[in-house]
Amino acid sequence: MRVERVYDWKKGAGLVEVDPVPLDLSIKPGGATRIAHLSDTHLGKGDRQERRQQLKDWLQLFSGLDVEVVVHSGDLVEDCDDDEEVQWALDLLDAADIPVLGVPGNHDVTQPGEQNRLTRQWGPFPRAEKVGALQFWLVDSMRCPPAEDRSPREKESARISGFYSRGALGDEQLAELKAKMTHLSGVQILVIHHHLRQPVPAKPFYEENSELMAPLEDADQLLQIARQAGVRLVLHGHRHQYVIPYMPFEDLVILNGGSSTRDGWPKRARVIDMGQKGEALRIWELARFSR
Ligand SMILES: [Fe+2]
Repeated sequence: MRVERVYDWKKGAGLVEVDPVPLDLSIKPGGATRIAHLSDTHLGKGDRQERRQQLKDWLQLFSGLDVEVVVHSGDLVEDCDDDEEVQWALDLLDAADIPVLGVPGNHDVTQPGEQNRLTRQWGPFPRAEKVGALQFWLVDSMRCPPAEDRSPREKESARISGFYSRGALGDEQLAELKAKMTHLSGVQILVIHHHLRQPVPAKPFYEENSELMAPLEDADQLLQIARQAGVRLVLHGHRHQYVIPYMPFEDLVILNGGSSTRDGWPKRARVIDMGQKGEALRIWELARFSR
């Protein structure tokens, strides 16, 4: 495992990249809550045993780093109809010595609002979970549009791969979030599978097939709610590439998870130390190249 980048955010100073070399990940600043972020593990794809082992390795690393909560931003499995893999994954996370919070990705459900083993265990959505001074808002970005309303290009891709890729929260979930995310206390963090804007740069395939990996359709409405609620951090997945953090407005940092187990690519995860009042943030970008 290698620490590839480290970012520091401080009130008034914004987000800056700092030299990771002198920084020791084993030291957690006093008062900080330590989060680990995993995403897009796609268990069951390619070499099953290898992907399983990668996930186990990350969890083992986190447990030695005094991580208080692990967040998984979706696509836990490659195929939600693969009962054996879903059960193995849920059992592993259930038995982990750190609580795991997760949201569904487009491989974890096949239809908007679907109830399956994974969504029953991770859901319901949307909802808030408190961990110390932090409050995590977990949302389901696979609520709409229904399969029949997708573009011909996306339908064609789904026919081959079995999965639709675009996402939205839908009016009902947005209204629920808007109503619930008022008069909040603590530090607000949002967890979602889909990205909220097109990353720059995007991989050439997605530049040419933008319909397939488009940002969340109702990202603007969600960002408006997040701004009003004072959300400090958004953790998402879906795009398997590393993307530098971005800030759509002051004090809100958006982080893409990459893929934590992908074959032949650096496997990515991050550790985040968040101050009790959201007043400071340190982000450790981790990469694993092989076992
Ligand atoms: Fe995805």
